Amino acid sequence: MSVEKFSYANTSQAGIQCSLKGVRGEILSFIKDPFLYEEKECVDHYDDGLIVIKAGRIEAVGDYARLVKNYPDIEIEEYKNSVIMPGFVDCHLHYVQSPMIGSPGDTLLNWLNRYTFPTEAKFKDKQFADETARMFFRQLLRNGTTTANIFATTFPESVDAIFEESERYNALTICGKVLQDRNLPDNLKDRSAENSVVESEGLLRKWHGKGRRLYAVAPRFAPTSSRLQLKLAGELYQAYVGKGVYMHTHLDEAYNEIEWVKELYPEATDYTDVYARYGLVGRRSVFAHCCLMEEREWDVLYDAGCGVVHCPSSNLFLGDGEFKFWEAKERLRPCKTGIGTDVGGGTNFSVFRQLGDAYKVGMLKDRYLSPERSLYLATRGGAEVLGLDDRIGSIFPGYDADLVVLDLKPTEFLEWRLKFAEDIFAKLFVMQTTGVENLVRATYIAGEKVFQNG
Ligand code: GUN
Ligand code: ZN
Repeated sequence: MSVEKFSYANTSQAGIQCSLKGVRGEILSFIKDPFLYEEKECVDHYDDGLIVIKAGRIEAVGDYARLVKNYPDIEIEEYKNSVIMPGFVDCHLHYVQSPMIGSPGDTLLNWLNRYTFPTEAKFKDKQFADETARMFFRQLLRNGTTTANIFATTFPESVDAIFEESERYNALTICGKVLQDRNLPDNLKDRSAENSVVESEGLLRKWHGKGRRLYAVAPRFAPTSSRLQLKLAGELYQAYVGKGVYMHTHLDEAYNEIEWVKELYPEATDYTDVYARYGLVGRRSVFAHCCLMEEREWDVLYDAGCGVVHCPSSNLFLGDGEFKFWEAKERLRPCKTGIGTDVGGGTNFSVFRQLGDAYKVGMLKDRYLSPERSLYLATRGGAEVLGLDDRIGSIFPGYDADLVVLDLKPTEFLEWRLKFAEDIFAKLFVMQTTGVENLVRATYIAGEKVFQNG
């Protein structure tokens, strides 16, 4: 029987004001990028720490014995045999693919046609979208994801549904209507390029900056947009990027996709250039996959300050190219890099479990992804991709109190196995590699406990 409990956030003024509280336990977070600095310099770790939370934000963090003296009356929740980390950041996934996750496909393009498009067509029905959004958010929280950059689909209803559910949990959420006006079934196609961008702007005005909701202009990928749609989407993004609006799409994921882009856009230098020509490459642009990049493309993304998203379980499952983290984080032009589950190409909702796959993808090319670096990608790296690293991704005073509590005794075997692990990184590495379920004991969003297990 499940002992999982989900609670919508109490965002009433009264709830927020009286929320001075403490969370005690082992604490781990990153304050700098371990791809660029000595790993030790980047880590903030307390064996027995205290996080003080006030009005949804972190007021203080430090060693428990030292800090508690300053807060004699504080109510403290203590987690033993656990580690508290910043909530995970999922930089790319499709909530509308939750109903078809785990469907086999021989290639990306066949998989889209066979499973994805028919499923997404169902999201014109608001009730179906609401039901899916509810189930989807519960999967995020039970996996410790507190911020997500989410693809909806063509229909404005699909965007409303996910933002409404995110509002109930007070979760920091990025989403936008998917722009797609060619090369897909009529029941999923935008009526016209013009109309699709009018609808996007309407949703943007309705949702962007409403509480913790942020909007993304979201062309699915170059093959499913006409030139006119990309042009209008680029204009919309450029008009609002100064206000914190994103551009979110797919790039260089699979060989046959790239061949198709070449046929459709023979005038472009490469796939990245298709987006650049239409003003879609900018400081709040987020590109999922980036497996098969030319050096020129990395340069363009770095110069523009874009974020890239490694989606390892999806790439393994769909048999696409593999993401080369050592290229993405090349020292002379390190691109902001995070992790995406890419549900439903990805095979589960856990950012943490992606790290086990990311390690193996690196090993296919003899590249070692250290536990420090991978945990950074799942937290602060993701926050950097989304330009939110001054608010989330670390446990630091002034940051939003978005936290995950990971169980260090999730099973009988792991309790025993972890006794032989030398430090917290070795322990977390064992857990990411063995892929344990029910790892998350609690998830906090803006200081409120929205998920608890046990
Ligand atoms: N490229 C365009 N659309 C999609 C999608 O839904 N999933 C994945 N993995 N790649 C895509
Ligand atoms: Zn995707």
